Amino acid sequence: MTSVIWHDLECGGYHEDIALWLALAGERGDPVLDVGAGTGRVTLALARAGHRVVALDSDPELLGELARRAPGLAVETVVDDARSFALAGRRFPLVLVPMQTVQLLGGTAGRAAFLRRARAHLAAGGVVAVAIAEQFEEFEVQDGEPGPLPDMGERDGVVYASLPTAVRRNGATFVLARRRETVDPAGRRTVSEDRIALDIVTVRMLEREARTAGLRRLGVRRIAPTDAHVGSEVVMFGA
Ligand SMILES: C[S@@+](CC[C@H](N)C(=O)[O-])C[C@H]1O[C@@H](n2cnc3c(N)ncnc32)[C@H](O)[C@@H]1O
Repeated sequence: MTSVIWHDLECGGYHEDIALWLALAGERGDPVLDVGAGTGRVTLALARAGHRVVALDSDPELLGELARRAPGLAVETVVDDARSFALAGRRFPLVLVPMQTVQLLGGTAGRAAFLRRARAHLAAGGVVAVAIAEQFEEFEVQDGEPGPLPDMGERDGVVYASLPTAVRRNGATFVLARRRETVDPAGRRTVSEDRIALDIVTVRMLEREARTAGLRRLGVRRIAPTDAHVGSEVVMFGA
């Protein structure tokens, strides 16, 4: 359950991309394949708008929570890896990869494997739309500085706070570091460090990799940055 809480806290507050996914689903039709769906930030928005969605993620705990949040909605969950999934004979008019998930797939080889799987599951005239962040602003919170605002929430009396502490370039990745703190009603406290390494990916790199997987570029849409979130490019491909 703890991974669900941190996931909701750190990803759930992002809304700037939802209008684009809704517009694409409206244009392309159902079913939509949401790759790296997590607890359903995007899947649930689409399903509540009346779309049929297949939500795929490698984390069964996050997907279990997504299913629990989707009673009465046309949502199917699939626990699988984005680099190797095979949904027997299924084809999708729209395959989405929101929120830099494609930068978590283990570099060029992982992205290439995913792009081949996406191509194999694409319906005629279908679109694969992949959100990437090309650039991250590097920073390191110094002692005594407040740093960026934490993501905070409360569940069953326990207060959760996730504080961004650094973004550093490390080889072919950007490492996003956070300090996760909890305080329970008795005042007991936990502190842990969390680090995520996002592969550095540019639109041009992704286009080259997609071409090798049999996908051609259709266009790029930009989602502007906010105070709390980096901007992203949504790169769209067709067969
Ligand atoms: C940044 S979160 C995005 C969650 C959700 N799509 C959103 O936009 O809020 C990345 C998600 O990708 C999933 N993920 C990471 N690697 C994966 C892989 N190889 N195959 C499938 N899912 C993966 C994680 O479990 C996580 O739920």
